[in-house]
Amino acid sequence: MKKLRQIAETFGTPVLVMDLNVVENNYRQLVENIDDCKVYYAVKANSHVEIVKLLRDLGSNFDVASRGEIEKLLSLGVEPHRMSFGNTIKKIEDIRFAYEQGIRMFAVDAEMEIEKIAMVAPGSNIYVRLSTNGMEQDADWPLTRKFGTSVNHAIELVKYAKINGLNPIGVSFHVGSQNYNPENWRTAIREASIVFEEAKQFGITMTMINTGGGMPVRYSRSIPEIKDIAKVINEAVDEYLGDNITVIVEPGRSMVGNAGVMITKVILRSKKGDENWVYVDAGVFHGLTETIQNIRYRVTVDGKEDEELEKFVLAGPTCDSMDVMYYDIDLPKSTTLGDIVYLHATGAYTTEYSTNFNGIPSPKIIFENGILLDEEFEAVEAKSNFSESNE
Ligand SMILES: Cc1ncc(COP(=O)(O)O)c(C=O)c1O
Repeated sequence: MKKLRQIAETFGTPVLVMDLNVVENNYRQLVENIDDCKVYYAVKANSHVEIVKLLRDLGSNFDVASRGEIEKLLSLGVEPHRMSFGNTIKKIEDIRFAYEQGIRMFAVDAEMEIEKIAMVAPGSNIYVRLSTNGMEQDADWPLTRKFGTSVNHAIELVKYAKINGLNPIGVSFHVGSQNYNPENWRTAIREASIVFEEAKQFGITMTMINTGGGMPVRYSRSIPEIKDIAKVINEAVDEYLGDNITVIVEPGRSMVGNAGVMITKVILRSKKGDENWVYVDAGVFHGLTETIQNIRYRVTVDGKEDEELEKFVLAGPTCDSMDVMYYDIDLPKSTTLGDIVYLHATGAYTTEYSTNFNGIPSPKIIFENGILLDEEFEAVEAKSNFSESNE
């Protein structure tokens, strides 16, 4: 942890340290394990230019959510044909802008979205997003209710797109972010195959399955490896969709999550009744937003890795009572003012969510390649701060 401590001393806290070697490893694992796979990095997870530039040079494509992300990628030389506008809720001006730039791939899950695309992006390729009901129970961050639709409705949307002069190329789904069960990808591909079959009856041959994101990062619980999920995807595509299918994956969390460590500092310790409170200089409004749903990062305190643990409440620095990351975290007993606290595997959905609430700036991002492949770091990483019932 020496190098991380030095970074904290040099740059101050809070700071997110990212390791591009880890991102590159993650990218290679996907393309090596999933047959005929095209990666579309979900830019929303971490849109830092260094990450985009690395993935651009590795040959990745990009899943974009807005005009802002498109403009950023264009400014970095990513060609429009390498982008898919995967947000199902797009402003009509953004669709027009995307089309004018040359983007031709759009996600839909509603008739009106098809009408908007037909109006300002005629002839474009569209894919229909299925909901993944029942699969989100295996995910820490479910996405199903807001996004996607039923198999029957998806079939109607494919036909509707065709009637509106668009080109339906396939089906997408998202099993929920941080999903622990590879079998969910099989179930979703099987359901998608029904849409493919029905489309054929209507004279539409679709050739693309977009398996979304959802691949997990190792936070507190153990996770399936990428190759385990890849195996299921390969088997299911073979069994249910057959040959000549392009498989798209849209990793966000699993591309960058384990490539980052947030370094914070304890600014107060207090006792409230029986509770030990520790406050650090980044919180829910400064990158640690996902802690208030189910994301349970591993947390270690510099130099106190071998100390006995005790229950704490871990909170952020702002004047808002929502700014509490965990009410039940095990931390070293002597954790106190000035201690450096590491939140591991925080490369995804952290700085992207960060605000300047209370006039407190967002954490800086520093790149230090190779740092997270360190053996010492791996050993420390193995610990969990939560009792099993909470995991
Ligand atoms: C359309 C789409 N694709 C991919 C992703 C990335 O998912 P994950 O971070 O679980 O890999 C998201 C995340 O919200 C998404 O909305």
